[in-house]
Amino acid sequence: MNSPVRVAVIGAGLMGREVASAFGRWFALLDCPVRPELVGVCDVNAAALDWFHSVPGVKYFDSDYRILLAREDVDVVYVAVPHHLHESIYLEVLRAGKDLLAEKPFGIDLAAARRIRDEAVRLGRFVRVSSEFPFLPGAQRAYQLACSGALGRLLEVRCSFLHSSDLDPGKVANWKRQTQFCGQAGVMNDLGLHVAHLPLRLGWKPVSVHAQLQSVYPNRPDGRGGRMACDTWDNASLHTTALIGGESVPLTLEMKRLAPTETNTWVFEALGIDQGVRYSTKEPKTLWVYRRDREQWWQKTDLGFATPFKTITGGIFEPGFPDLLQQMWAAFLAERAGVLGDRFGCATPDEAVAHHELWAAALQSHRRQTVEKMPALLHQ
Ligand SMILES: NC(=O)c1ccc[n+]([C@@H]2O[C@H](COP(=O)([O-])OP(=O)(O)OC[C@H]3O[C@@H](n4cnc5c(N)ncnc54)[C@H](O)[C@@H]3O)[C@@H](O)[C@H]2O)c1
Repeated sequence: MNSPVRVAVIGAGLMGREVASAFGRWFALLDCPVRPELVGVCDVNAAALDWFHSVPGVKYFDSDYRILLAREDVDVVYVAVPHHLHESIYLEVLRAGKDLLAEKPFGIDLAAARRIRDEAVRLGRFVRVSSEFPFLPGAQRAYQLACSGALGRLLEVRCSFLHSSDLDPGKVANWKRQTQFCGQAGVMNDLGLHVAHLPLRLGWKPVSVHAQLQSVYPNRPDGRGGRMACDTWDNASLHTTALIGGESVPLTLEMKRLAPTETNTWVFEALGIDQGVRYSTKEPKTLWVYRRDREQWWQKTDLGFATPFKTITGGIFEPGFPDLLQQMWAAFLAERAGVLGDRFGCATPDEAVAHHELWAAALQSHRRQTVEKMPALLHQ
């Protein structure tokens, strides 16, 4: 194994800590030819930085990301900060000569995403965007089946990512509930790449969209005894048409913070005339495959630990969220080193721009109550 890739994190919140966890048990990976080393962390919140003192190997604890970016012994930066800060910090990472694993949605809106993508191209930096669910064994199997053509002519596709904790009106608000920090697209910015990544990778690009957006609670507790205005979209249902194999196929994308009974449910379903596939994290080890025979039936397969990068974990065990993040990082580092092979790669800047194009059209559709055609450049 070559010398480690030196990684730093900007934004030591929920996601920043997950990186430390994924790297801390890197030895569990059996066939990843690249090894990361977490060398530095930056956050404006001292308490968030403090947590990283328990992580072996971290030597830089900065409260100003410019100080971190000036350090020469940092190769890759992972940035997990609120969306209004994406563009400025991502651009500075790139201009400091570092590669970037960006968090979704890759800029607060379409214009920002395009500027980040274009600057990465101009500077020749390696940039990918965080989206971990496709690295689940069930999602991989569904993706491979969809790629294989075995489904036959597609009849419909549904991709969903569903939360329910916001149903509680007493839940304290954070920056994700305010447009100025989360973006006009609201829940689409927050949960959207999770649903758009696989269809876009499969080339299933919507050519038109009709959106239904809901904003349910206008304010929430602010955690300090007061109330905070909440002006983002909570739920989004996008009824799109995708051109797949020259045919118009209904493709539904659902992103919801208020979906009763759903904790963190990611669903990918594609039904064709010959076969169909359904995978949901509600049944994390179960792959459903529909077959049309003389009778029509669903075949249920119990999946094990068939992750893209092999690990020490026994094949019959179940993977979870920390495993996915580790797999996604392995794919990022392997692709950066040119050794990904035929494994699934992380979401690209072009895919992130394409998903923002969808959200821009969805916002327009909801505002005008129309079916919006996607810009021509999206389906070239
Ligand atoms: N891939 C996923 O599954 C997933 C899940 C949750 C969030 N996210 C994304 O991760 C990003 C962060 O979300 P989160 O839930 O971790 O948020 P968070 O609020 O838990 O953490 C954000 C951190 O950024 C810090 N921060 C703010 N301004 C900063 C600055 N100028 N310099 C350095 N640090 C700064 C905050 O103090 C905070 O600790 C967002 O883009 C979000 O969409 C991705």
